[in-house]
Amino acid sequence: MSEETRILSVDLGDRSYPIYIGVDLLERSDIYKNHIASKQVLVVSNVTVAPLYLDKVLSGLSGFQVETVILPDGEEYKSINTLDDIFTTLLEKRFDRGCTLVALGGGVVGDMTGFAAACYQRGVDFVQIPTTLLAQVDSSVGGKTGVNHALGKNMIGAFHQPQCVIIDTATLQTLEDRQLSAGIAEVIKYGLINDPEFFEWLEDNMDHLMEKDPLTLSYAIERSCFDKAEVVAADERESGMRALLNLGHTFGHAIETGMGYGQWLHGEAVGAGMCMAASYSKKLGWMDQLEVKRVITLIKRAGLPICPPEDISVKQFLDLMAVDKKVKDGQLRLVLMKGIGKSLVTSEFDSKALEELLYEYH
Ligand code: NAD
Ligand code: GLY
Repeated sequence: MSEETRILSVDLGDRSYPIYIGVDLLERSDIYKNHIASKQVLVVSNVTVAPLYLDKVLSGLSGFQVETVILPDGEEYKSINTLDDIFTTLLEKRFDRGCTLVALGGGVVGDMTGFAAACYQRGVDFVQIPTTLLAQVDSSVGGKTGVNHALGKNMIGAFHQPQCVIIDTATLQTLEDRQLSAGIAEVIKYGLINDPEFFEWLEDNMDHLMEKDPLTLSYAIERSCFDKAEVVAADERESGMRALLNLGHTFGHAIETGMGYGQWLHGEAVGAGMCMAASYSKKLGWMDQLEVKRVITLIKRAGLPICPPEDISVKQFLDLMAVDKKVKDGQLRLVLMKGIGKSLVTSEFDSKALEELLYEYH
């Protein structure tokens, strides 16, 4: 483990791209020159991240014709309406279909910029510069882009892969603790899906991670990106195993939508959602009590909620869960566990037991 720049690859044939992981990468003009084929570049950021990091990115982009658009901050702005601000700037500045968009920010900015890139003139290039842990380990990798709808999270979107992902781990030093915890939820997810060794490493290193120890963070990011890149390479469009990356998300999206976007952070909802998935797996006889306890303990140590909010009734929860992208032919599919590191996607579950589980939280 050192602080030198690491490069992972997302292998997707002629659309393969690198993930750079290191420190002081924002100003690395060599990386931009290698991956931006256009002269015109639009950097999209938000009112929180731009004052911290935009100058560095602009300095790395010297030589390009650069414009910026600064969005409001918050999950509640991840909408079709906000997207229009990006399109307006692109059109006002006469950006052509050879242009490149650069997303500088967390998952909200990344998902919206990627979707704008997928739509503008039917598709232009984009680069991801994720600045939250959650975005560095999950949302910037794999090409899922989109916005929320009042009736469902991430329901409007497109698959559109970036040209590269630039992860400057030093940006995490300005991240609030609550946001760090939200990112750790997605890190724990990789251990639970199919990497039990990583789960054990997290049990041993959670305190260092919570203290933002640079080498611990760097290793967690690299391992998470490696795990995610493997899944994306095997199933880019989620026709099969990529659905595993939604562990905790069907419960979590119901919490996010039910509470109103921005009330619970995405990672917090996923944290509680993974505890629910573990408890439900135990109810079905698929996971033993000791393993469920390890899951809940680790999620708690990460500063995350381990139960859903009581404000959402059981009926409301079930209705919200029914609006899930994994629903196929009207049939809900869930990601559950047969042990730590042994997740599976299934519609073979007892829905009465699901209702019972939800009542247990009330
Ligand atoms: P976010 O983008 O809202 O960022 C969290 C907060 O941190 C914001 O206030 C942001 O301005 C601030 N911030 C960002 N970087 C900072 C920094 N370095 N220092 C200080 N503050 C900083 O939230 P998020 O957790 O990054 O992303 C959540 C979103 O990602 C959700 O919309 C979720 O649906 C989406 N997501 C997408 C995928 C995917 O595959 N595309 C995967 C997981 C999550
Ligand atoms: N975060 C889920 C996915 O990328 O598929």
